Amino acid sequence: MTIEGGVGCPVSGITRQQLFQESTGLPNQKFLVTSALPYANGPLHLGHIAGAYLPADVFVRYQRLKGNDVLFICGSDEHGTAITVQADSQGVTPQALVDRHHAVLKKSFEDFGIRFDNYSRTSLPLHHETSQEFFLQIHRKGVLVRRAVKQLYCPRCQLFLADRLITGTCPHCQQPGAKGDQCEKCGKPIDPLEIRGAQCVRCKSQPEARESLHWFFPLDRYQERLREWLASKPHWKANVLNFCKGVFESGKGLEERCITRDLPWGVPLPLPDSAGKVLYVWFDAPIGYISSTKEWAARTGNPDRWKEYWCDPTVRLVHFIGKDNIFFHALLFPAMLMEHGGFVLPDQIPANEFLNLEGEKFSTSRNYAVWLHEYLQRFPADALRYSLARIAPEAKDTDFSWREFQGHHNNELADILGNFIHRSLTFAGRYFGNRLPVRGPPDASDSAFLDAMEKAPGEMGALLDNFQVRDAAVRMMDLARAGNLYFDQQQPWRTRRENPERCATTLHLCVQACRVLATLTQPILPSSSDALWRMLGLPGRAADHPWVSADPRALPEGHALGQPEILFRKIEDSMIEAEIVRLKSMARPAEAVASATSPAPAVQPRKLEVPLVTETISYDEFARLDLRVAEVVAAERIAGADKLLKLTVRLGPETRTIVAGIALHYAPESLLGRRIVVVANLKPARIRGVESQGMLLAASEAEKLALVTLDGAIESGSQVR
Ligand code: 2FM
Ligand code: ZN
Repeated sequence: MTIEGGVGCPVSGITRQQLFQESTGLPNQKFLVTSALPYANGPLHLGHIAGAYLPADVFVRYQRLKGNDVLFICGSDEHGTAITVQADSQGVTPQALVDRHHAVLKKSFEDFGIRFDNYSRTSLPLHHETSQEFFLQIHRKGVLVRRAVKQLYCPRCQLFLADRLITGTCPHCQQPGAKGDQCEKCGKPIDPLEIRGAQCVRCKSQPEARESLHWFFPLDRYQERLREWLASKPHWKANVLNFCKGVFESGKGLEERCITRDLPWGVPLPLPDSAGKVLYVWFDAPIGYISSTKEWAARTGNPDRWKEYWCDPTVRLVHFIGKDNIFFHALLFPAMLMEHGGFVLPDQIPANEFLNLEGEKFSTSRNYAVWLHEYLQRFPADALRYSLARIAPEAKDTDFSWREFQGHHNNELADILGNFIHRSLTFAGRYFGNRLPVRGPPDASDSAFLDAMEKAPGEMGALLDNFQVRDAAVRMMDLARAGNLYFDQQQPWRTRRENPERCATTLHLCVQACRVLATLTQPILPSSSDALWRMLGLPGRAADHPWVSADPRALPEGHALGQPEILFRKIEDSMIEAEIVRLKSMARPAEAVASATSPAPAVQPRKLEVPLVTETISYDEFARLDLRVAEVVAAERIAGADKLLKLTVRLGPETRTIVAGIALHYAPESLLGRRIVVVANLKPARIRGVESQGMLLAASEAEKLALVTLDGAIESGSQVR
C-alpha cells in the first residue's frame, strides 16, 4: 500500500511499513491475519462480528500502526450442504444464493470498517484449483485412505442425501420428524442409516442405502505431532488448549475424517471416476485463506507474492475465529498443512467465546439477532465497535444488551472521550486563537498527566499485542478520563484570568492528549480518529502515523487547529426502546421454528374463523386474475410504517414495486431471492407515498401470516393457475 498525503510523508511509492520502520527503528514483523470465512447463506449478526472480525480488525490496525507488515485475509465460505439445502428451499441455484449473500457480506464488512486486504469467495475457479492442488499433493503422498461408505440415496432426486436432507423417527427416543444428523428432542447424534421410516426432505420419497467411495484424511496419525506442536504454545488461550486436550483425551482421540462428499455443489474431486464428488467443505474452506492470498497477490500485480506470507517461516499466521471453529483451525487444518509441507503453521489462534443477545443465544432460524447491515442503517459503526470491544467475549460468553450499548455510548464515548476532546479544542479555539498554546514549566499535576500520556500507548499496545481488546478499550478511555480530571482540577476557566501562563500549559497538555488519543482510537474507533485528526488541523489521517508518534510532544507550539465538532451525539432512550421492540417483534417463537423444520404432528383440525366457502364464482371470473411467480430482489422497511415492507420483485423481464403488510412477520433480508405469488393485474395503488404495482398472496390465521411460495424451481414471471 502506498501513502497518500500525510504530514511530512506524502511520497508515493514508499510503503507505510518502510516509512514507519525508518521513523521507529523497530524490527518489522510480518503477520498473516485471517478471520473465519463466513458462510454465504445469511447476513452477519453482532455475534459473528464480536467473535472473528472486530478483534481481528483492531489487531491488524494496531500492528500496522506499529510498522509491521500485515496482510489481512478473508472471504465468503460458499460451499457445504447448508447452502445447497437453502438454495433448494428457495428454488434458486447455489451460485445465485451465494452471489447474493457474498455481496451483502462484503458490503457490511466495508461499512463497518473491517479493512481486509482481500475478501475473496470459495466459488472462484482460483479457489477450486488451489484446493484441488492441495488435495492432490497429499493424495500423491499416499496418506489418504479410500473406503466404501453406506449412505442413503434418493432415487427420485438422484442424490446421495446429506444428513440434513433426511427426516424420520429418531431411533433413540422415537420422536417423529427428526433430522438425519441429530435429534432435536433427545439431543443424541443419529446415524442416518438407523433413522426409522427415512424420507427425503426434498421429495418426501423413501431413500435407499447405497455404497459410495470416499476419501479419508488419517487425522488419527497426527495426534502425537499435533500434541507436541501444541505443547510449544503454552501462551495460547486456555479455551483452545483445553479443547484440544479434551479431544486427545476423549475416547479414541483424533479419528480419521471423511474429506469428500457426494454433492452437486463444491470443489470437484480432482480424481478420475469421481463425478458427483466434491471436497468436504471443511477441507476446502481453510484453504480459502491461501486462495484469497493468491487472489490478493494477482490483483496487486505480483502473482507469486502470496508465498512471501504462506511460505516464510518467520511470518506469524494468526487465525481469528469463534470457539465453534477451534477443531478445524487448531487440529484439522494444521495437520493438513503439516502433511502438505512448505506452509507456515498458525502462530496464534485467538478464539473467542460466544456473544449472547439480551440474555439469549443469537438464532438465525428464529430471526433473533441484531443484523449488522440493519444496525448500520440506524447507528454509527464506531458506537458498536466500542461497545463490542468493551464486552468482547475473550474468556467467557458475554451478553450484548441495547441498554448497555447506550451506556457505553452515552456515558463513555460521549461523556468522557467526546467531552474531553470537545472542551479542550473549543477552549483552545476560543481563548488561544485556535492554536496550540505555549507550554510552561510543568508542576506536579502536569507531570502526572504527562506521565499518563507517555505510558498509555505502551500499555494499550501491550494489551493489543496480547489480543486483549476489552482491556485495551478501557485503557484508551482511561486516558480521556484522566484528561477530564486534569482539566477539572486545573480549572482553566479560572486560571485564564488569574494565571494565563498556567492556563496555556493546561491547554497545551490537553490538546497534546487529544493528539495522543487520535492514535490510540485508531484501532477501535477509526472514523472517530479520522474526525479527531481533522479537528486537530492535521493533514492526512492518524493511520498514516506510527503508534510511537503518539507522544505528548507531537504537536509544535503554535500549531493551527481545525474546527471542533461533536464526535458522539447522545443516543436517546426512545431509539433504544425501538430496538428492543424490534428485536422481540421480529423474533419467531422457538416452537414455530421447530414445527417449520419438521413434519407437523397429527393435530385436531381447529375451527377456522373464516367460513370455508364464501360465494362461488365462474371459471372466467377466476381467470381474470393474473397470478404470477415473482422473485424478491430487494426488500426494505418503509419509514414510519411499522407493518409495511417495500419489495422489489422480478416478474420475468419486468421489475415491480409492491408494498406489503408483512413487516411484523418477515425481516426484509429473509425475503431476498424468494419466489412468491403476486396478483399482477391489480390496479396500482399509492400506499404511504409508494406506488404498489401488485399484491402478494399470503395465508393468515389469527396473528399468524405465511407467504404463498412455490414447491419447486419455477421461473419468475410464470403464470399461476
Ligand atoms: O463456521 C463458519 O462460519 C465457517 N464458515 C468458518 C470457516 S473458517 C475457514 F476455515 F474457512
Ligand atoms: Zn428426493
